Amino acid sequence: MSLPAPESSARLRDALLAADFTADGLLELLGAPAYAALARSETVPALRATRGDSPLETLVRLFLLQQAVPDDRVGAALPLDQCLADGWLVREDAYGGGSAGVRATVDVRPYGGEEGQDWFIVSDLGRAVGGAGGAGTREEGVVLGVGGASTTLAGITVRAPVTRALDLGTGSGIQALHAAQHAVHVTATDLNPRALRFTRLTLGLSGAPEADLREGSLYEPVGEDTYDLIVSNPPFVISPGARLTYRDGGMGGDDLCRTLVQGAGERLNDGGYAQFLANWQHVEGEEWQERLRSWVPRGCDAWIVQREVQDITQYAELWLRDSGDHRTDPAQYAARYDAWLDEFEARKTKGVGFGWISLRKSGAEDPSITIEEWPHPVEQPLGPVVRAHFERQDYLRAHDDAALLAGHFKLADEVVQEQIGLPGAEDPEYVVLRQNRGMRRATKVDTVGAGFAGVSDGSLSAGRILDAIAQLLGEDPVLLRDRTPEAIRLLVEQGFLEPLD
Ligand SMILES: C[S@@+](CC[C@H](N)C(=O)[O-])C[C@H]1O[C@@H](n2cnc3c(N)ncnc32)[C@H](O)[C@@H]1O
Repeated sequence: MSLPAPESSARLRDALLAADFTADGLLELLGAPAYAALARSETVPALRATRGDSPLETLVRLFLLQQAVPDDRVGAALPLDQCLADGWLVREDAYGGGSAGVRATVDVRPYGGEEGQDWFIVSDLGRAVGGAGGAGTREEGVVLGVGGASTTLAGITVRAPVTRALDLGTGSGIQALHAAQHAVHVTATDLNPRALRFTRLTLGLSGAPEADLREGSLYEPVGEDTYDLIVSNPPFVISPGARLTYRDGGMGGDDLCRTLVQGAGERLNDGGYAQFLANWQHVEGEEWQERLRSWVPRGCDAWIVQREVQDITQYAELWLRDSGDHRTDPAQYAARYDAWLDEFEARKTKGVGFGWISLRKSGAEDPSITIEEWPHPVEQPLGPVVRAHFERQDYLRAHDDAALLAGHFKLADEVVQEQIGLPGAEDPEYVVLRQNRGMRRATKVDTVGAGFAGVSDGSLSAGRILDAIAQLLGEDPVLLRDRTPEAIRLLVEQGFLEPLD
């Protein structure tokens, strides 16, 4: 089916907004359970909630539920003839001749921007919910809407004002749409030419400036160009062969993710960020951290967070379900499953990690590379946390222990202390500092660490605080000054303490 004319986006946007076809409007119309069900691709609750004939119900039925709607109802919500001419709608032939109304040609889903903007994501019909949530498709070249992975990447992206941003593998354009809010020029690429056409519709319908759209694989369409921000939610699935462009990269194992990460260094401007979602193999006889360390390009600091690890059977099942293979002939399903395990066996892979890779071009000779496992809940958006992480690395790199002790620190907002021990015991077994924001980290501290954090309000230098603690505990202040910087470094690195100078 041909796609709508992009020039018509502004006209449709006005009509959609006039009918309150927005994220808030939808939530109010459908109610939270039906709204949430729709995000899981379950349409029955939303169908039940749109049995009336208001313009908003008409738009939900057309653009989210793929229903044919009679002309008079559509005419009350949209300029019908114009939408037919522009290609947003097509006529539905009735059984036995005549017209049974009209249908939408694409899925148009309201999406609320981080500052309350009313945006729309345009994707293939019935494919608005993508990724591990279950796209349920085996059609190559299909363009999905927004999945959990898309919003995760959008949330962790550093949103500083920049000149040039690149969204590699743009799909229906969600990352490009976000980038358009803080980048002067946005380039969006995709191997699938249909994706670029969907991105143009998403940007136009959301009232965002046009992006520079380029077709091609990985960095090939951008040549020697460099960027202040590179983002990619790539086709990271490790599979026995490329079948689905939106998820299977078509390179062996985790080679596509490695190539993306390694190639970012030379395409980043100084101080620029590259942020990726990725999968990586856990290979027999190799530390997964070392595998990832070898991907980090020269001149870049890196923060890599492993959010989840699946064994190879869970992984194969997840993606077989995603493509709907579990609903095919059992023998075919078994053959596909077998092929997946063959592939993993050949690559000595015992599990697959999923996570976030953030690079920052620091040009440092001794780059800071943090690779960690953090499977616990976090508070999105984490973009400001990612930026602060790299800024703290700069601080730590520039301050030796003496400089650290001369520094002033402030306890980060919403850090609390928990005392852990047996009920009724006089003293706690240990003390934990816990962040209630951002990464929501927790870390064990000793009496000195807890005391230090407690009085860190920026007024005294770290050294002076340690001297006071030494006096209170009857310890030698010189020894305390000698042994504590390591612990302070860790608290700074993990964001419990913020340097003030
Ligand atoms: C998982 S989707 C991500 C879509 C969107 N950026 C998001 O965040 O939801 C991956 C996208 O990468 C595209 N793609 C697949 N192989 C590619 C390649 N070799 N080079 C560039 N893009 C590719 C797919 O067509 C698809 O649009």
